[in-house]
Amino acid sequence: MSEEDNLRLGIIGTGNIGRAHLTALTSLKKTNLANFQITAVCDADSASARKAAKDFEIPTTYENYKELLTNRTIDVVYVCTPASKHTDIVKAAAKAGKAIYCDEPLAHSCPQARTLMAVTQDAKVPSGAGFILRFDPFILYAKKLLETHDFGKPMLAHIRTDHMYTDEYAKQHKWRGKSEIAGGGTLVEHSVHDIDILTWFLGPVKEVHAKVGFFAGRGVEDIASLIMTHVDGSMSTLDSIWHSVDRLNERYIEFFYENGFISITLESGERFLEYHLKGQNPVRINAETADMHLLTQIGVNSNKDALEIYGVLVDTINNRYAALSYAFLDAVKSGENPSPNFADAVAAHRIVDAAYESATKGTTVELL
Ligand SMILES: NC(=O)c1ccc[n+]([C@@H]2O[C@H](COP(=O)([O-])OP(=O)(O)OC[C@H]3O[C@@H](n4cnc5c(N)ncnc54)[C@H](O)[C@@H]3O)[C@@H](O)[C@H]2O)c1
Repeated sequence: MSEEDNLRLGIIGTGNIGRAHLTALTSLKKTNLANFQITAVCDADSASARKAAKDFEIPTTYENYKELLTNRTIDVVYVCTPASKHTDIVKAAAKAGKAIYCDEPLAHSCPQARTLMAVTQDAKVPSGAGFILRFDPFILYAKKLLETHDFGKPMLAHIRTDHMYTDEYAKQHKWRGKSEIAGGGTLVEHSVHDIDILTWFLGPVKEVHAKVGFFAGRGVEDIASLIMTHVDGSMSTLDSIWHSVDRLNERYIEFFYENGFISITLESGERFLEYHLKGQNPVRINAETADMHLLTQIGVNSNKDALEIYGVLVDTINNRYAALSYAFLDAVKSGENPSPNFADAVAAHRIVDAAYESATKGTTVELL
């Protein structure tokens, strides 16, 4: 830890997601909920690093992550590069003794993810995994409902996630169409998050049957469908698509429990949650209520403070990123391993690998 007991952060990768973190971190600082400084940014594209440094008033830029890692004042690094770079950067960051946050997908495969988990454990450095949906206000609200009401055991869950992937987007992010850089298409790149959510709610997976398809002629799949059986006997299905239809991205999640139903509609359009308990009327929760719940989750108890902080946080691209960083930095500061962490990433990648294996072989793959 640096001299002033104030965490110092270095951000590696200043593309879309690096900038999303920078925006959220900047707004989090304004709330005084977390105490840290962003000391440096790094990007192999030096113009991108310089622009981020200017936009977010960060004193130091690097083009090479190895140089950033030699900066002894930096305690924590955020790894926001494509997955093909994660292995080298995470290994070097662990060796340099930095606490590490890495975006998802952590790796191209479960064995690679396991190696990174082992490296951080051997170096005794905290490892945070970027399962951003775990910080979605509605998903946290659903968790609260399950704790406070008698929903009974889970029976069936479904996620359908569609993401617009235009030719223009493909041109701007060429690496996403190359499996040697991205690791795969919509299944690993996008839906590793959905798999994490399904296991977060329904528990570990026993077997998976999957199919993937390649419509756009890129090197990676643009549709994937999975049927999973969980250890407790519940089942879940996942449909994931990258398409070029000009519509708002949508992620629709539904959970059926013995005594109740929860559905969550997320992403670019109207966001809301509905739940329906046996013998009661359905209830609809809007974004403001869910956002307020998110603030109480991160320890804001007074309504006045909540309103002030809410005003700052809604300026972020997405409140999820601020909550994720809040929880990650809080864990680092208190010497706890963050949640979610690289072990959660290993668990999700294990299912992703099994799904690819199932799609290739045309058989159901058992995980236990
Ligand atoms: N957690 C989430 O919700 C979420 C959302 C979107 C993307 N992601 C993940 O975040 C990662 C980045 O995605 P993106 O959309 O920001 O991509 P991007 O292409 O916009 O940005 C990636 C940046 O990394 C830089 N880079 C590449 N190699 C580097 C290296 N060796 N050293 C330093 N910088 C390097 C590139 O120059 C680029 O600026 C991907 O793994 C992606 O899957 C996560």
